[in-house]
Amino acid sequence: MSSTFDHPTYNYSVVRAFTIMTVVWGIIGMGLGVLIASQLVFPEIFAGIEYLHFGRLRPLHTNAVIFGFGGCALFATSFFVVQRTTQARLFSDTLASFVFWGWQAVLVSAAITLPLGYTQVKEYAELEWPIDILITLVWVAYAVVFFGTIMQRKMQHIYVANWFYGAFIVTVAVLHIFNSLSVPVSTLKSYSVYSGAVDAMVQWWYGHNAVGFFLTAGFLGMMYYFVPKQTGRPVFSYRLSIVHFWALISLYIWAGPHHLHYTALPEWTQSVGMIMSLILLAPSWGGMINGVMTLSGAWHKLRTDPILRFLVVSLSFYGMSTFEGPMMAIKTVNALSHYTDWTIGHVHAGALGWVAMVSIGAVYHMLPVVFGRKMGEMYSVRLINIHFWLATIGTVLYIASMWVNGIMQGLMWRAFNNDGSLTYSFVESVDASVPGWGVRAIGGGLFLAGMILMAVNSYLTIRASKQQNAELVGTTQAA
Ligand code: HEM
Ligand code: HEM
Repeated sequence: MSSTFDHPTYNYSVVRAFTIMTVVWGIIGMGLGVLIASQLVFPEIFAGIEYLHFGRLRPLHTNAVIFGFGGCALFATSFFVVQRTTQARLFSDTLASFVFWGWQAVLVSAAITLPLGYTQVKEYAELEWPIDILITLVWVAYAVVFFGTIMQRKMQHIYVANWFYGAFIVTVAVLHIFNSLSVPVSTLKSYSVYSGAVDAMVQWWYGHNAVGFFLTAGFLGMMYYFVPKQTGRPVFSYRLSIVHFWALISLYIWAGPHHLHYTALPEWTQSVGMIMSLILLAPSWGGMINGVMTLSGAWHKLRTDPILRFLVVSLSFYGMSTFEGPMMAIKTVNALSHYTDWTIGHVHAGALGWVAMVSIGAVYHMLPVVFGRKMGEMYSVRLINIHFWLATIGTVLYIASMWVNGIMQGLMWRAFNNDGSLTYSFVESVDASVPGWGVRAIGGGLFLAGMILMAVNSYLTIRASKQQNAELVGTTQAA
């Protein structure tokens, strides 16, 4: 993976590879999102083709966006940030390369096995046991490279972004290993070692912390590096960052049962899940406020810097989804929201508004640097600007339509006539949801269009960097 852009100290080649794959998996995963969103509006599109059934493409979408797009963004930025903030090269180039190729192999295996119907039927942990073993190997190598680099740091202090990345790496390892424990019965079939309510509890302990650590802690690490860098100011409060780090990681782990309200789970565990979720609002907002306040005195930069706009808007959506989440964890609210599109809206307020926007901002900052240009010096600022508006409008259309749909579905399902019979049949609620699903598909389409512009802009930036480099080499040789 070596090239003319190699840095004298840092290993940027693995960062470049993961950065490019962030954009590629983003387009694939979101493309699948738009496809399944359209399937709900036009259910006959692939009628009769089992491999392209909604039930098989949906987990492919979640795997491609979370582990493909989100995962590559986390690998790219954590390898970039840990080197820049420790001033040390990655612990091992060979292991870093293994992390890259191993992770791509996991993603390609997912893309093959999920449409073929091989699944452990555990949400966000669908992949069968041989792939799970590969994930474990890659993750161990990742941990060795990351923590090995921290051990080799040139200064005593460990910058807070690394704390968040470190917590994400350790916790995801524990979650993955325990939730995936299973008994294989053939090459691509296994049964979970857990059953009944315990299985459900372990799964949602995993599922919720996948949100808390994969989709939140790692991205907070990203936020703590890229927001101050892009703003050109130090973090608003370093003390707040440490307090909210400890509060966040010690609370998240208890909140899983809010996914299992009104189920066979013991009542008290549901209540613990609800209360912990409500308390979780405080550290989540601590992080959001710390990020937003970092802009104090630099707000004017938002007028001219679309990269900063991506980062700030991501924080607003982070604040919004972490307010909405605790509200949905209240049992009486959950009685209305559960099983409805409200949950899907909440998911994408976090996924598109927070996770995707902060990653996009980070990539726009980092991609030029690892290709030998100045920070944030993309080929076209205009294209970033258009991307920003497509992403923002797309996200708003997505979540607003899902709120309307979700509340409507919840109210329709609980409407009774005087004689005790249901006012609406289920299919009537499906019929009433179609316009909202149409708006969601349009919103997703806009977001995807923005990602395609990002790919074009990235390609043009890399090409311009190569030309610049070639000219520089030419001038040096001539001299
Ligand atoms: C163009 C953008 C996107 C579109 C159009 C889209 C569309 C969809 C659709 C239609 C579903 C299925 C909803 C249902 O079953 O009723 C879904 C589920 C999901 N998507 Fe996306 N998505 C997009 C981007 C993303 C991103 C970037 C992420 C994560 C980083 C993400 C994470 C998820 C998750 C976790 C679920 C499962 C939610 C649940 O089970 O409650 N999506 N998406
Ligand atoms: C304080 C923070 C948060 C709390 C307390 C919280 C709470 C909740 C609750 C109560 C549900 C609905 C469970 C159900 O009825 O099935 C939910 C679903 C979900 N949330 Fe959050 N949320 C938070 C933040 C976030 C963020 C920031 C993201 C994304 C980055 C996110 C992603 C998800 C996903 C993917 C699901 C759907 C899980 C599934 O059913 O497949 N949440 N959350």
